[in-house]
Amino acid sequence: MTTTMTLQMQNSLLQVKNLVQHFELPLSWMDRCLRRERRFVHAVNGVSFEIGPGEVFSLVGESGCGKSTIARTVVRLLTPRSGEIVFEGREIGRLKARELRPIRREIQMVFQNPYASLDPRQRVGEILMEPLLFHGIAGSREEALERMFRLMDITGLHRDQANRYPHQFSGGQRQRIGIARALATGPKLIVADEPVSALDVSIQAQILNLMMDLREEFHLSYLFISHNLAVVRHVTDRVGIMYLGFIVEQAGCDDIFEHPLHPYTKALLDAAPSVDKDHIEAPLSGEVPSPLTLPPGCVFASRCPKREKLCDEERPPLKKNGSREVACHFVE
Ligand SMILES: Nc1ncnc2c1ncn2[C@@H]1O[C@H](COP(=O)(O)OP(=O)(O)OP(=O)(O)O)[C@@H](O)[C@H]1O
Ligand SMILES: [Mg+2]
Repeated sequence: MTTTMTLQMQNSLLQVKNLVQHFELPLSWMDRCLRRERRFVHAVNGVSFEIGPGEVFSLVGESGCGKSTIARTVVRLLTPRSGEIVFEGREIGRLKARELRPIRREIQMVFQNPYASLDPRQRVGEILMEPLLFHGIAGSREEALERMFRLMDITGLHRDQANRYPHQFSGGQRQRIGIARALATGPKLIVADEPVSALDVSIQAQILNLMMDLREEFHLSYLFISHNLAVVRHVTDRVGIMYLGFIVEQAGCDDIFEHPLHPYTKALLDAAPSVDKDHIEAPLSGEVPSPLTLPPGCVFASRCPKREKLCDEERPPLKKNGSREVACHFVE
C-alpha cells in the first residue's frame, strides 16, 4: 500500500466501498404458478465514497436513484448485500445487533419527516433522555436531566418546552428535537436524509445554519442527502451525483457547480432554477431504465445527448480525473 493511500485511509472517518444493495420483490401466487424467476430492485450498484472528520459529503440525484438506501445502509438499518462500510478503520457492514450498539452512538440519523420519527406519546424531555440512559451516557436521572437541558439549549429549544409533546411544536422546532436527539449520544457522523425538504423555505436556512454551527462546535461530519442543489451548495464540501444506483460524478462542491463534467450533472444544473419542487427532474428526454433490469452499458445512455454505440455496449467505470471522478466514455 502506498503512503498516500495509507494517509488517505487514516484520514477517513467513513469509507464506503463498492456498496451494493438489492431488494427482492416478493413473488405473487401467480408468479409462483408460472414459475417466474426471483426479481430484484438494483437500488445501489457498487457505490464508493469517503468522508473525512468534520467533512460534509452530499449525495444528489433524482427520486429513486438510491440515496436513502445508502443512508439506511450506512446507519445499518439495512445490511449491505455486498461491499464494505468502514467506520474509523473498522468494517461495520456485517456486525450483529449487539456489536453494533457502540457504533450506533457514533453514527446518528436525522430524518426528512421529524414528526414521523418522534414518538407522539413521549414528551420532548423523555425523547432526549432515552438515548442518554439507554447508552449509559448519563450515570443517573439527574445527570440525564442536566444533559437533556443542555441539548435543548444548543439546538435552540426552550427548557420549559421539555414537558410538551411533538405535536405541540412547529415543523422547524420538531426538526430541532430530531437534531437534539441525534446529538445526545455524542456522534462523530450524522446521516441527514433530506433534513429540510419537509420544512417551509423560511425555516430551512435556520435549520441548515444550526446544523453547520453544530458541525463547527462538535467537529461533526455529515452524509447529507438533498434533492435541492441550492441547499447542497450551501453546506457541502464534496458531492456525489447519483443515477440509478451509481455515482456518475464525484468532486468538490465548486468543481461540480462551476465545471460539471458528466452530461447528467450538466442536465441537473440546467434544471436547477426549477428544482424548487419535491424532487429534481432533469430536462432530458428518454426513459430511465428499470432498476429491475439494468442495461449492460452506461445506465444514463438512454437520456444522454452524447450517446454513441460504445455507451450501449460498455458501462463506463468511475475514472479518476485529477481530484474528481467521472463515469463517462467521453470525458477525458
Ligand atoms: N424496501 C424496499 N423494497 C423494494 N424496493 C425498494 C425498497 N426501498 C427502496 N426501494 C427501491 O430502491 C430504489 C431506490 O430507492 P431510494 O428510496 O433509495 O431512492 P431515493 O434516491 O432516496 O429517492 P427519493 O429522492 O424519492 O427519496 C427505488 O427504485 C425504490 O423503489
Ligand atoms: Mg429518499
